[in-house]
Amino acid sequence: MVQNGFARVVVKKLVFGVLVGIVLVVVAKLTHFPPVFQVMFFIYAMLGAFVFILLDAPSMKRLEGSKAVVGLILFYVIISGVYIAGATWLPQYDPEVEKGKIEKLLKARRARTKQGKVEELLARAKALDEKAQAIAKQLAALGGGAKVVAKVKVETEASSPTSSATSGDLVALGREQWELQECYNCHKLFGQGGKKRGPALDNIGNLMTPEQIRQKILNPKSWMAEGFEKAYKKGKMPNKYKDLMFPEEIDALVAFLSTLKDTSVNTPRPIKMQ
Ligand code: HEC
Repeated sequence: MVQNGFARVVVKKLVFGVLVGIVLVVVAKLTHFPPVFQVMFFIYAMLGAFVFILLDAPSMKRLEGSKAVVGLILFYVIISGVYIAGATWLPQYDPEVEKGKIEKLLKARRARTKQGKVEELLARAKALDEKAQAIAKQLAALGGGAKVVAKVKVETEASSPTSSATSGDLVALGREQWELQECYNCHKLFGQGGKKRGPALDNIGNLMTPEQIRQKILNPKSWMAEGFEKAYKKGKMPNKYKDLMFPEEIDALVAFLSTLKDTSVNTPRPIKMQ
């Protein structure tokens, strides 16, 4: 009789747990949580149901002495096993991957500031050189016959680290920008990423000229993908790349996107807005 009552409680609470889980998953989906989180929320709901089931479970027979010790150890072994199995089974988040991405972004910026400083110093040296020459000329005009020509050798042609990229490199760099700027969070490409927030871009090279793609990245309000009126109005595509990216990085990304000409994928038609 007690057994029967407990079975009914188990079923009731399991059903309730599943219902709560489904509600959580739907809410998580609507608020764009990644699938990993949706799974986690469902697991949390089931764990909650399990705890409530335990509260109603009939009490165990009391264990004494060595049996109690064995029981305790067994409990820890099982719980540890469940935790480890659960953790390895769930998708892994690798902080090293994220660190690598941040390092790449920072590297370009560091190289830039170094180059910027060198250029500034060179410009100053050049200005000083011109001043020195002007003074020497004035002295010569005054008839002093001064031979004080402070000649500062200036290397004006600073080597530019970005100008040597060939077009193949450019496309590869652009593909890297696609990853680093995380466009894949919203856009599906080569069947990956997207989560259905933005259009798949596999055929964008046939629909937009490089200049139009550039406009869209610099100002997401400039073009609207047909059928994405709501997302466009809400400003889903971030208006931040003009601040985050260097012109060369945008050039590379545009070059990469221009090569995407897979007509078997339905990339929506862009409509000029601004
Ligand atoms: C937070 C989501 C999000 C991110 C991140 C994002 N986009 Fe978008 N993008 C959208 C949405 C939504 C649309 C469709 C609505 C619109 O046109 O504004 C769109 C539209 C586009 C279009 C026009 C597509 C068409 O068929 O008309 C291009 C091109 C584009 N995005 C490129 C990019 C690039 C390149 C990046 C990365 C630098 C990027 N997007 C990052 C959400 C995003």
